[in-house]
Amino acid sequence: MAIALIGTGLLGGAIAQRLLQQGHALHLWNRDPSKLKPLLALGGIAASSPLEAVNQANWVITVLSDGAVTRQVLLDQIGAGLRGKRVLQIGTIGAEQSRCLAGDLARLAAELLEAPVLGSRPEALAGTLQIMAGGPKNLFQEALPLLQDLGPDPRWMGEIGSGLETKLALNQLIASLTHAFSLSLHVVQGAGVDPEAFMAILRGSALYAPTFDKKLPKLLSGDFSNPNFPLAHLRKDLLLFLETAQAQGLHSEGLTGLVHLLERAQGNAIDLLDYSALHQLTGSDGRPNQVPNP
Ligand SMILES: NC(=O)c1ccc[n+]([C@@H]2O[C@H](COP(=O)([O-])OP(=O)(O)OC[C@H]3O[C@@H](n4cnc5c(N)ncnc54)[C@H](OP(=O)(O)O)[C@@H]3O)[C@@H](O)[C@H]2O)c1
Repeated sequence: MAIALIGTGLLGGAIAQRLLQQGHALHLWNRDPSKLKPLLALGGIAASSPLEAVNQANWVITVLSDGAVTRQVLLDQIGAGLRGKRVLQIGTIGAEQSRCLAGDLARLAAELLEAPVLGSRPEALAGTLQIMAGGPKNLFQEALPLLQDLGPDPRWMGEIGSGLETKLALNQLIASLTHAFSLSLHVVQGAGVDPEAFMAILRGSALYAPTFDKKLPKLLSGDFSNPNFPLAHLRKDLLLFLETAQAQGLHSEGLTGLVHLLERAQGNAIDLLDYSALHQLTGSDGRPNQVPNP
């Protein structure tokens, strides 16, 4: 089937590479066309606008940074060109934003399946993403062969919004677990305890989460370069989670301090680093790297 893929950033680029390697014909558009280069070498076809990409396809995959950008590209830059198309929206956007988008696309005679993912570039390249879809079940079933090229066990969570609510619930855990681990690690190091001795006890306990060992080398070395998932996106997702929790009337104020901590990275180079760079923010000087974003 012909597919348009819009947004070849960190995740979208890896998804495009995987789909090309699985033999799909991909019409690609990215705001910065230089990011298409490695994908064209794999057989991807460059489009000069999102509309041109979509005109060649029946499925339209979006992997854009947030809800506002996704909406702007789909509705303002493509608009009526989406008539009869099926949109597979993979980026992490708000559940309410997704419901609004579904309504606007329906008015353009297009259908929306949200399919946010857990996992990052390595999992996208290997086809091992965890996919949590929301939207019409028949659309999910139609998309299944495509989704199975990205992850072994795509799941249908329910109506539109439910896939994103699931995704945001998981990303709240990424933020909270990383924050909790970072603070504890600082404290044991500040006390002069060998981090390995601390880890040995943690690993043997019910408190252990594999993400701790995954991020430990970065936290110990302070090298947060070459991100797969930058800090700015984690802050976006935590804010979206809070919106959802507050809409459900939950008492989520325990997360407010973490949001404030992450907001200190905004406008600083640290925002572009791996999300575990929040360890710099929890440190005793607590100052983000003040180099401005390019
Ligand atoms: N990275 C991960 O591991 C991961 C995992 C799960 C979910 N996600 C979610 O997937 C989405 C994409 O993440 P990512 O890591 O790939 O982010 P990214 O590398 O920052 O890529 C963002 C994409 O959005 C495009 N974009 C941004 N602003 C735009 C605008 N005004 N007009 C047109 N295009 C615009 C970028 O184009 P340019 O290249 O031209 O800037 C790029 O294609 C996010 O919602 C993220 O939360 C990411």
